[in-house]
Amino acid sequence: MSALLETDGVVAGYVPDVPILNGVSIHAEAGEIVTIVGPNGAGKSTLVKTIFGLLRPHRGSVRLDGAELAGRRPHEIARCGLGYVPQRDNVFANLTVRENLELGSFDRRATAELIERMYELFPRLGERPRQRAGSMSGGERQMVAMARALMPEPRILLVDEPSAGLSPAFVDVIFGKLREINERGVTIVMVEQNARRALAMSHRGYVLDLGVNRFTGTGHELLDDPRVAELYLGGTARVDAPAAISEK
Ligand SMILES: Nc1ncnc2c1ncn2[C@@H]1O[C@H](COP(=O)(O)OP(=O)(O)OP(=O)(O)O)[C@@H](O)[C@H]1O
Ligand SMILES: [Mg+2]
Repeated sequence: MSALLETDGVVAGYVPDVPILNGVSIHAEAGEIVTIVGPNGAGKSTLVKTIFGLLRPHRGSVRLDGAELAGRRPHEIARCGLGYVPQRDNVFANLTVRENLELGSFDRRATAELIERMYELFPRLGERPRQRAGSMSGGERQMVAMARALMPEPRILLVDEPSAGLSPAFVDVIFGKLREINERGVTIVMVEQNARRALAMSHRGYVLDLGVNRFTGTGHELLDDPRVAELYLGGTARVDAPAAISEK
């Protein structure tokens, strides 16, 4: 049985002959939460952009349910059931919450009902449908971005740094929402600097460094591996350490 989402030896970058990813192989089974961690510049966002078709791999393959995605364009990939929340600039700042969600819809007739579902998942958005996204807090904007990506009811949600820059309270909210989205049946592939928190709730994790995946295992295996802790998690702090801990 093949994985739901799989990259196999992906080599990719922004210009020809300058690969940022040097052969990355990761996979996610249906229903999993998979987290990719690694230092700044490791290529995490590049990997997610390549999966979503924003970059065309120079070599290797990206498969969804066994079907090749490499070479397809983002809108086609979205129609195959992938949702993507970029690391930055992930909302239309001049549009309202509702307008942002409408733009995420692929099915006009279902839009109103899907928006209501998003307001159930994110009641905070339902309380302010006419607020401009640009005037919202970072955590609220992250909710808008996640809700917009969920509007087409994707099978897989790719999220790049969902907790970046958020207050500890909002980090909890966003991680809770990701768990809830996963419990509703959506496979989650996320990149996170808040590595300990993210790995602790992940079925599988990858450490990406210098464009290759260096370590893999269940979230807890990675957290318990002294090499991973030392090199990427800032030492041997406890798994349930409270503060926001990044691996740098
Ligand atoms: N649009 C771009 N054009 C050219 N090079 C880029 C572009 N975006 C990223 N890079 C380069 O690709 C490398 C990997 O960047 P990437 O954004 O994938 O790292 P990352 O692991 O997501 O880092 P961070 O943790 O800081 O988000 C970096 O050297 C970066 O400078
Ligand atoms: Mg990044």
